[in-house]
Amino acid sequence: MDKPIQRVTALNNATIESLRKNKITTCGQIYQYSEIFLAEKLDLNVYDVRSLIIKISDYVKPRRETAWELLKHKEHVPSFLPTKLHQLDLNLKGGIPAGTITELVGHAGVGKTQMCLTLAALATMPSMSTLLSLSSSSLSSSLNKNVVGNDINSSGVIYIDTEQKFNATRLYEIIQERIKSEIFYQNMSNIDSNDIGINSNNSNISITKDQLDKLCKNAVKHVTVFTLPSCKEVVERLSNIQRLIIEKNVRLLLVDSVAAVARQEYSSIVHRQQWLNKQASLLKFIAERFDIPVIVTNQVTTTFRSSSNNSNLLPALGNTWSHCVNTRLLLNATKEIRYFNNNNSNVQNSEEVIKHVLKITKSPLSGPIEVQYDINERGIVDF
Ligand SMILES: Nc1ncnc2c1ncn2[C@@H]1O[C@H](COP(=O)(O)OP(=O)(O)O)[C@@H](O)[C@H]1O
Ligand SMILES: [Mg+2]
Repeated sequence: MDKPIQRVTALNNATIESLRKNKITTCGQIYQYSEIFLAEKLDLNVYDVRSLIIKISDYVKPRRETAWELLKHKEHVPSFLPTKLHQLDLNLKGGIPAGTITELVGHAGVGKTQMCLTLAALATMPSMSTLLSLSSSSLSSSLNKNVVGNDINSSGVIYIDTEQKFNATRLYEIIQERIKSEIFYQNMSNIDSNDIGINSNNSNISITKDQLDKLCKNAVKHVTVFTLPSCKEVVERLSNIQRLIIEKNVRLLLVDSVAAVARQEYSSIVHRQQWLNKQASLLKFIAERFDIPVIVTNQVTTTFRSSSNNSNLLPALGNTWSHCVNTRLLLNATKEIRYFNNNNSNVQNSEEVIKHVLKITKSPLSGPIEVQYDINERGIVDF
């Protein structure tokens, strides 16, 4: 009953504004007044007031669904966003879970933003089945008519950038390289199946540079970026984001980074915590209401256990925030010396390399497993 009235998507902006002017901001308040009173205050007739109350009641009433309805829903709406990191997807039973908050934590430079861009790319690029389902000719005619946005991909991503570091060129590069490699492996698999005598019905995919460019631009267009450098702006945006999520069929929400903006703005822990709680509750609401993955990035603090002399990486922002997160992925980078033999001589050479490791440190689905990853032109990839 204390749900904010602006969350009722069935109401238009004018009605919400009119309710707000009359100090009706939560759903429960609507039941405190008579229909006549509301009609007068909102300048509506009684029938419109009844329809308004029905819409609000539909929103607040407990949802009753059978297991069958839930199963049917899951068939249409993906429950996971695959990361394409094989072991990670395997252990998370499909990828980043929908309907909950996933946190990427790690020191600066470990690849949190690269991971966000990779996931935005994966959520918006055309799937292999879509590419396959389009014959070469229909693909080119769709591309030429510029209707790919409707035909090939209609899912959107919202990217909230609090560090003002969003790099659209890099997003384009990741999408482009991923489409290229998907097509390459698809065509290779056709060659393989022909080699072993299987009569494959799969046709080879071949697209021109221009078509690839249009596919990438189409995917990039589906990513809505908000540069919001203050806590207040982030909370305001999240409070009013529902309509956009519906209109753009948003299937992924990213906040990069939640820590940077909270840490720099609030020196008082109490104030910071209040803002974080507000933000966490909004993110949780969005994830659950729209059944989409919500991903946030966070920094780490290092604690030293004097007894064991081990250093531990802990997510920043304290315990309360920590409990709001359902899945936590800790990214880490360490320097290693790698030895190799030069082919032309027996001399052993060495080089310093960065080893990237991602660890699942919290998950309702998986134990604490580690996955080694690399950062290259396709974003975050298996090592
Ligand atoms: N095109 C690329 N190819 C390979 N590595 C890249 C590329 N772009 C960025 N990186 C690497 O990504 C790292 C920065 O990751 P970033 O996601 O910005 O870190 P964080 O957000 O955790 O601070 C750097 O080590 C950089 O070398
Ligand atoms: Mg970053």
